[in-house]
Amino acid sequence: MTDSKTALRVLLTAQQIQARIRELGAQIDRDYPGGPIYLIAILKGACFFLADLSRAMKRQARIDFIGISSYGKGKSTSGEVKLTKDLDSSIEGADVLVVEDIVDSGVTLNYLMHVLRQRRPRSLRIVALLDKPSRRIRPVDVAYVGFQIPDEFVVGFGLDYAEDYRNLSDVCVLEEAPPAPANPPPR
Ligand code: IMP
Ligand code: MG
Repeated sequence: MTDSKTALRVLLTAQQIQARIRELGAQIDRDYPGGPIYLIAILKGACFFLADLSRAMKRQARIDFIGISSYGKGKSTSGEVKLTKDLDSSIEGADVLVVEDIVDSGVTLNYLMHVLRQRRPRSLRIVALLDKPSRRIRPVDVAYVGFQIPDEFVVGFGLDYAEDYRNLSDVCVLEEAPPAPANPPPR
């Protein structure tokens, strides 16, 4: 899937990710006293995180999906957000945990939290696998963070670049590969 101009550098291994997800699952179990929790994953990237996080929790969980688009095919936000798929059921009176792959500018989650708050859930929090705090342009209160990462574009574990790389088990930095030497040394 890489071409001659890009290279992948592992930032978080599958083992590191799974260990952190087990910790997050245990913490969420402790924090929510009882009753079902509604896990809402933002399509498409958060599906991998949702699948593993929900199984790291011992409590009763229901899952749903919401579609939001803000990016197009580039590496930075267009600033425009739209709902592309709504939830299947009402969240009124429910304990809702929004599951996101990465918080970057905060534009997506700032918008989504505004939309979901109007539906009167009993509680509404965010869990994000990755957080790039240095990139924030809109405020977002993220209750649970897997890993804070530097300002680099990452792929894998659900995250894509133009729809590629989602199925990698590691999280990798997508780097521009150094240019090939004009006159390669003789072998
Ligand atoms: P935000 O609205 O700028 O916070 O962006 C959130 C969304 O942008 C995430 O759900 C991802 O889909 C995408 N995104 C942000 N940073 C990255 C990245 O480093 N790699 C891949 N997707 C990213
Ligand atoms: Mg996303």
